[in-house]
Amino acid sequence: MKKRLIITAVYMLMAISLCCFTAGCSSRPQNTEADSNVKEDDLIVVGFSQVGSESYWRNMNTESMKSVFTKENGYRLIFEDAQQKQTNQITAIRSFIQRDVDYIVLAPVVETGWDTVLSEAREAGIPVIIVDRQVNVSDDSLFRCWVGSDFELEGKLVCMWMSKYFNLKGISPEEIHIADIQGTLGSSAQIGRTNGFNQMSTLYGWDVVDYEEGEFTKSKGKEAMSNILRVHKNVNVVYCENDSEALGAIEVLEASGKKCGSDILNGETMIVSFDGFNKEARECIADGRISCIGECNPDHGPRVESIIRKLEAGEEPEKYQYVTEGIFSNTPEIKSVMISGQERTVTVINDQNK
Ligand code: AHR
Repeated sequence: MKKRLIITAVYMLMAISLCCFTAGCSSRPQNTEADSNVKEDDLIVVGFSQVGSESYWRNMNTESMKSVFTKENGYRLIFEDAQQKQTNQITAIRSFIQRDVDYIVLAPVVETGWDTVLSEAREAGIPVIIVDRQVNVSDDSLFRCWVGSDFELEGKLVCMWMSKYFNLKGISPEEIHIADIQGTLGSSAQIGRTNGFNQMSTLYGWDVVDYEEGEFTKSKGKEAMSNILRVHKNVNVVYCENDSEALGAIEVLEASGKKCGSDILNGETMIVSFDGFNKEARECIADGRISCIGECNPDHGPRVESIIRKLEAGEEPEKYQYVTEGIFSNTPEIKSVMISGQERTVTVINDQNK
């Protein structure tokens, strides 16, 4: 901020002397090149390292960031897509440091391995904001704050919904044979959703038959589902760690002659998932092929922007900012789910609001 103020002052002085020289210090507005430079240099420069474009959620998240960090809003955004590779993110952060940006925003692909590069950012005096997934660093003063989802809670809420559904339909725990298609291993979204799933399936006594990695993509979701079906003929519930994987799993299940739906006692395969903003996934909820989706809200752009505004004003934003999220399903009987004192409303998705 200091840097911008100095540059602005220098340009203002240049503009004033130019004005005196050319117009004898009249008060007429002069449209000089220096003026437009002043505007450009006044912008807050944000370097954003995005994970990639692995899912519909991620694309929505990118759009959310791009829509707020605009010139009209006073920003210049330098956007870097890491294509799901941490090494690309580290390179991007180093380039932001070299370009002396005002803020670094990082959506980390995995949790570990950030200490060195974030220390470099701190040494350069550039505040770092973490968005979506978290970083696991030895010293949490390496970043100013984080905003995103409570992924473990998301996982528990979806399992809680399943448990309520099984009770409602009189399905006993021994009848549940469940596989987990995990997200990118080592990412907070995977760690949290898998942890939530493990705790709840142990609590309820479900038979967990397999874990396969799906990397949050539709193509890997398909591969994972094929692997599961090859080995576990009895699987009747698939816990997909995002909607892209779920859509891949549905394709494979249907191609193998199975019907996706909640009626597992009559041979259907239940699909549950996370995110809830993909049009195709919402259609699947409405037509019953996905039973339940734990909301993961991608609209972090305005949240990160409000953090930057606070920092610009010299305020101290809250270090960890969790977004409150709900549940989507097509079962009107289950109105809400509650776990660890947290109650969440279930929004019913049907043909009218899909
Ligand atoms: O980190 C959030 C997760 O990443 C979303 O659930 C998933 O769709 C995305 O790729």
